[in-house]
Amino acid sequence: MAAAARRGPVPGGEKRIMCVGLVCLDIISVVEAYPAEDSDIRCMSQRWQRGGNASNSCTVLALLGVPCAFMGSLATGHAADFIVADFRRRGVDVTHVAWQPCGDVPCACCVVSVASGTRTIVLYDTNLPDVTARDFEQVDLSQYKWIHWEARNAAEQAVMMQRVEQYNRARPPEDRVRTSVELEKPREEHLLLMGLGDVVFISKDLAQHFGYRSAPEALQGLRSRVQPGATLICAWAEEGADAIGPGGELVHSDAFPPETLVDTLGAGDTFNAAVIFALSAGKTLQDAITFGCRIAGRKCGIQGFDGIV
Ligand code: FRU
Repeated sequence: MAAAARRGPVPGGEKRIMCVGLVCLDIISVVEAYPAEDSDIRCMSQRWQRGGNASNSCTVLALLGVPCAFMGSLATGHAADFIVADFRRRGVDVTHVAWQPCGDVPCACCVVSVASGTRTIVLYDTNLPDVTARDFEQVDLSQYKWIHWEARNAAEQAVMMQRVEQYNRARPPEDRVRTSVELEKPREEHLLLMGLGDVVFISKDLAQHFGYRSAPEALQGLRSRVQPGATLICAWAEEGADAIGPGGELVHSDAFPPETLVDTLGAGDTFNAAVIFALSAGKTLQDAITFGCRIAGRKCGIQGFDGIV
């Protein structure tokens, strides 16, 4: 039997991109200026928005027109109803959401300041279990061209990534699933994920935690931690982004700041999604990070995500 027939067709024809990580409810208050502690102020506007890095990246991929899927945990209730309806509205596949029997849907109170363009986040995500390698075994890898992880429960996520590595070993390059991982929070246990994945995104926060003062410095210092042939990418807000490719080539893109900073919540997730979109479409690393900076810049000039493309 031909290999394609044995695997079965991909529904809808095109292979998808999956993002694994957090989904939460963001309750966003847009304020003129960041409030003083213990003050009692009015905000300019307020909205509920589906948030979480992996979830936001799905939103951006969907807006870019890629079929995509989200994998993460939820628990039934009002917040989950809102979240699932929003995923569906965007056309994001939620088949692999792990419904947990106990725990609360993570929720973040976000203060977006118009005066400074900052976004201050207070997240509650302490008691909902994350998806496990066991959950991930249910994923039919032949349906995906790319799987992205937002580092969280790293030991479990490493097993998920190793499953993909093993799957790829037996397949020709065109059938392989490419992988990426984002290390955003400076947590020791996340570092093991740096050695896995074809593409590793590290945040400015993480780089600064290691004592690096710029993206190129961080790339030089951390490149030995990624596997041979992997790409390491570091975005640095208004400085743009830098990356080091599989052959050791260094590339840089300036930022594309909007005329007025409006809302930076999810700008990093937008950058990651846009880079993944471009790389998965066969663009060069230079083009991909430039595209990532351009779309992330556009995001910073609008509230939410509608209007980034
Ligand atoms: C933005 C974001 C928000 C969420 C928070 C979680 O990157 O994903 O949507 O509240 O970060 O850390």
